Amino acid sequence: MKKGIIIQGSSRSNGDTGIVVSYLKEMTGFEMVDLNQREINYFDYDFNNNDDFEIIFKNIVRNYQTIVLATPVYWYTMSGIMKVFLDRISDYLYKEKDFGRMLRGKEMAMISCSNDDDRVMEFPLPFSRSAEYLGMQYLGDIHTWVRDKELSQEMKEKINAFALKIKN
Ligand SMILES: Cc1cc2nc3c(=O)[nH]c(=O)nc-3n(C[C@H](O)[C@H](O)[C@H](O)COP(=O)(O)O)c2cc1C
Repeated sequence: MKKGIIIQGSSRSNGDTGIVVSYLKEMTGFEMVDLNQREINYFDYDFNNNDDFEIIFKNIVRNYQTIVLATPVYWYTMSGIMKVFLDRISDYLYKEKDFGRMLRGKEMAMISCSNDDDRVMEFPLPFSRSAEYLGMQYLGDIHTWVRDKELSQEMKEKINAFALKIKN
């Protein structure tokens, strides 16, 4: 079994994405990092950020083979928190490039969450393209929807199949 980490990018830790991530974590045995609990600032061309990104990123590239990005749908796209996280990967393409290169050969997957089966077709594109750019294999994605804080049986089955696909 591969070692993986789920990056949770919701603006609330115990919201709908959190429900999906908890279940995926249970089904995969993957670790989880909640970006909402950490300080990650916008990308800075002068690289003057002194926040949690460095420790999170270096931990990921050193220890995990599979990276699952979990985001709610906000305005038809990924959350701002998730976008800032992706932007900051650029830190390691410009400086300390060896860490950026460590992503090569790793795997990326993505799970999105809203309240309905309403994700736009293009939604996965920034993830699949970024994976390609970074030399990572894109394992695919699923969209989940949570209503009244409950994961339906249909969603559980969808997540189970996704978990099987990404962990083996
Ligand atoms: C800022 C914001 C923008 C949203 N935009 C969309 C949207 O474009 N499409 C959609 O289906 N739901 C949208 N939603 C609803 C969320 O996707 C939905 O409630 C989701 O389950 C919230 O997950 P969370 O609890 O992890 O934040 C939006 C919610 C917020 C807070």
